[in-house]
Amino acid sequence: LLHDIGHYTSEFGTYSPEDVEDKHHDEAGGEVLAPFFPPVIVECVRLHVAAKRYLCATDPTYFGRLSPASVHTLSLQGGPMNAEEVAEFRKNPFHEEAVRVRIWDESGKIANMKTRTFRDYVPLLQRVVTQFAAGKPA
Ligand SMILES: [Fe+2]
Repeated sequence: LLHDIGHYTSEFGTYSPEDVEDKHHDEAGGEVLAPFFPPVIVECVRLHVAAKRYLCATDPTYFGRLSPASVHTLSLQGGPMNAEEVAEFRKNPFHEEAVRVRIWDESGKIANMKTRTFRDYVPLLQRVVTQFAAGKPA
């Protein structure tokens, strides 16, 4: 629901197949959410590109599940992680959650799939934001 919010909040705009540089929407998304959401959510957003690069390096079946847009941006984002990057990624306490979000992301890229609307998730988002503001765990 939130992981690509950085496409709409950064100065670089949304993805285009003509892009020749990474627009760092992962970092932009984490930055815009950080004041309002708990670290696990912020890190899943911030790490969702890294999780793609991680999965491409560690799961031989994963690359075949990428959309054409994700294959294109993978090359702009540095390609699959090397062994050093994999080890560094695994040090993040939220890396497993970020991988889970990434796998859900690939599963959701089905044209014409029936989904709930953004409005349906507003009460959940409001509850998480309110609990975070009150210092309570989500
Ligand atoms: Fe993304």
